[in-house]
Amino acid sequence: MQFSVKSGSPEKQRSACVVAGVFDNRKLSASARKLDEASEGFISSLIRRGELEGKLGQTLLLHNVKNILSDRVLLVGCGKEKDFRPKQFRKVVDAAVKKLNDTGSMEAVFYLTELGVKGCDSDQKIRHQVMATTQSLYLFNDFKNPKDSTRRPLRKMTIMVNNRKDLLHREKVLRESVAIADAVKLAKDLGNMPGNFCTPEYLAGQALGLSKTYPKISTEIWDEAQIEAQKMGAFLSVTRGSRQPARFIIMQYQGAEQTQKPIVLIGKGVTFDAGGISLKPGAAMDEMKYDMCGAASVIATIAAVAEMELPLNLVVLVPATENLPDGQATKPGDIITSLSGKTIEVLNTDAEGRLILCDAISYSETFEPEVVIDVATLTGACIIALGHHASAVFSNHSPLSHDLEHAAKATNDKVWPMPIWEEYQEQLKSNFADIANIGGRDAGMITAACFLSQFAGKLHWAHLDIAGVAWESGKNKGASGRPVELLCQFLLDHVNDKA
Ligand code: BES
Ligand code: MN
Ligand code: ZN
Repeated sequence: MQFSVKSGSPEKQRSACVVAGVFDNRKLSASARKLDEASEGFISSLIRRGELEGKLGQTLLLHNVKNILSDRVLLVGCGKEKDFRPKQFRKVVDAAVKKLNDTGSMEAVFYLTELGVKGCDSDQKIRHQVMATTQSLYLFNDFKNPKDSTRRPLRKMTIMVNNRKDLLHREKVLRESVAIADAVKLAKDLGNMPGNFCTPEYLAGQALGLSKTYPKISTEIWDEAQIEAQKMGAFLSVTRGSRQPARFIIMQYQGAEQTQKPIVLIGKGVTFDAGGISLKPGAAMDEMKYDMCGAASVIATIAAVAEMELPLNLVVLVPATENLPDGQATKPGDIITSLSGKTIEVLNTDAEGRLILCDAISYSETFEPEVVIDVATLTGACIIALGHHASAVFSNHSPLSHDLEHAAKATNDKVWPMPIWEEYQEQLKSNFADIANIGGRDAGMITAACFLSQFAGKLHWAHLDIAGVAWESGKNKGASGRPVELLCQFLLDHVNDKA
């Protein structure tokens, strides 16, 4: 999709279609009113006749409207004006985009950002419009024959804005929005890719590809011999049962002075989690191909940052491995030594995420980072606690969790704070090693975070458990691309706070 911003009157645009909103009940938006006036009351006459109520997501497509220079006019229902929030706004964009895509308009001018959206400024409306558009046209059909395809797809969207004098700023917002939307798409593609294709080696290849596209990104890939030489014993213990070789991915984006401390993002990259010897039950096990969605989100985020050319330094670390059962696999009761030197009793091989992340967190110290954030589909218990609406955020540094919560609010990519109190740490005591890798059934999401916190030491660290939000199950099964927008917003805010 090609996006642009522009200002001007709706009746004067020469396009395949002009899109304008109508609120319930039958209340024309400013642009719909202009179109109505130009067409000498044609639109209001149709609406009076009951062609469109203005219910959320309703559409009415008109052709050859008198005195309108575009071929078509698409009116979209926006629901009740007093309930018009980002969610409803996105729904309106989605309905319009789907309708246009299905009815042969390959380009369109959209008069939707003029609508008042609760809690949203003009910049956020542009972001929402771009995100919703990319989202509604998203397809993952790499493996389908024949591919579902639209004969005359929507290719060009002009986002009309009121004020011509802000156009330069709006264009910057648009470029950022497109970079973030593309990153969300990348994260979804990586997530949806099946485990027999999306292996640790595949993720490494993707990371290398990004450093070819963006000169400011450099990528280093470690193979198992290097991971071993670095003494990442916890990470290695997970990969023992797998025939696909593990990879440790290190990506560095330099957008600021070398002296400026980097932000480190770590993503859980388990390309398939069968549980290892502590084998998972079979139901829905296919969804464990999504156990690398943390990795996908941080790789996509560094791509967006490079695309936006943000003036900051960013490091992305991804321990990538499968977790499978095998004669060589780590067994319950085995004791391993992590990079930190701490010994870990592996009581359950299905609690593997924390084992690969703890070594990555220890390794992140070498970058002397300002903050470290890990992103992981870490626990089923996260879904029990928060369902599929919010990621959990844990941190040993309250300004950091505050900033993440702030970015989450701005993007509606929700997070909710959780504690890492001493009382919970007790559950991780082992009779035979420094720490056990599970803390029992109670507060399973919290004890997983507590485990990680013991490796964060003095780092300013946060952990996002994205188990409930990284993908959708059921009929609409597919990766969500979360929390890419949240991470990008966090980094944008970080840059703006410094400026
Ligand atoms: N990848 C899973 C967590 C998960 C499960 C995420 C289902 C989303 C949906 C993780 O590696 C895991 O297996 N965790 C165990 C931990 C337990 C053994 C302490 C879990 O949550 O059951
Ligand atoms: Mn597991
Ligand atoms: Zn896992």
